[in-house]
Amino acid sequence: MKTIFSGIQPSGTLTLGNYLGAMKHFVELQNDNNCYFCIVDQHAITVPQDRLKLRENIRSLAALYLAVGIDPNKATLFIQSEVPAHAQLGWIMQCVSYIGELERMTQFKDKSAGKEAVSAALLTYPPLMAADILLYNTDIVPVGEDQKQHLELTRDLAERFNKKYNDIFTIPEVSIPKVGARIMSLTDPSKKMSKSNPNPKSYISMLDDEKVIIKKIKSAVTDSDGIIKYNKEEKPAVSNLMTIYSLCSGKTIEEIESLYDGKGYGEFKADLAAIVVDALRPIQERYNELLQSEELDNILDQGAEKANRVARKTLEKAERAMGLGRKRRK
Ligand code: AQP
Repeated sequence: MKTIFSGIQPSGTLTLGNYLGAMKHFVELQNDNNCYFCIVDQHAITVPQDRLKLRENIRSLAALYLAVGIDPNKATLFIQSEVPAHAQLGWIMQCVSYIGELERMTQFKDKSAGKEAVSAALLTYPPLMAADILLYNTDIVPVGEDQKQHLELTRDLAERFNKKYNDIFTIPEVSIPKVGARIMSLTDPSKKMSKSNPNPKSYISMLDDEKVIIKKIKSAVTDSDGIIKYNKEEKPAVSNLMTIYSLCSGKTIEEIESLYDGKGYGEFKADLAAIVVDALRPIQERYNELLQSEELDNILDQGAEKANRVARKTLEKAERAMGLGRKRRK
């Protein structure tokens, strides 16, 4: 049995990109692995958040994890800020990180671009992410393609620590889905679909209703040739819509191409909207039930208890290896 860890930021309502690139795979993984799924609220505050909205997003994300099919009897679901070892090991990982390597992270460059003032935590986001993963002796981290660079840094930091202090950390492998690793924006196919994009037309939220989904897909950019053919370089917008179609319907790209041979974007988009609505409907129904229930808080309490138990042990080992604190009294 392998240990799996993955986190999602409660920085907005999850998009179809988060679902197809990450969450959908979590559900499959929980059956044969020891899984930890985390709501990384401390990562979310690396950029400004509204206090009340953040609280709402945390609960909403917990309900969405369960609504897509995460089973608390199989996986541990918890909130990052309820397990103090994350911030504590995060500090230690900062101490083994170099500023230069953090400045090279594309997420830091993207999120700080054009801003007059950015938080120091936006720069030190990757060492905290490394701590999240390393605390649970994680073997595999399933993420979308955008997180690959952070994962490579996590491995470097873990190896650096192990070499310098003691062999404490398991070196994690990254697992990126073959299809859907990077769902692109509906308004600009050169950018990934992101929940914090200020233009809601650029993404489909997992909680968008039927009318909104139809409208957003109808207005999604395409190109002028009107042909439904997969070509990521020359037809990135249409290829992105075809990827979404494929992942939500189970049809292969070739099947979609032959189904829409000689047909236009209007018909394709109408069918795609119906398929996305059908894929999200059961999730939204379960989500609405869960949000009202006490079940959600009980699951998060149990999750925090188990995560704290495991995380504290790894933290103590790392602190001891570095010489922090005092020698334990017999
Ligand atoms: N567009 C995407 N396609 C495929 N996978 C994606 N992921 C995010 N966007 C896409 C994957 O979702 C998981 C959770 O991501 P996150 O919320 O922790 O942070 P993120 O990658 O920065 O996602 P967003 O939506 O872009 O958030 P904001 O806008 O707040 O920065 C990760 O596994 C990620 O790879």
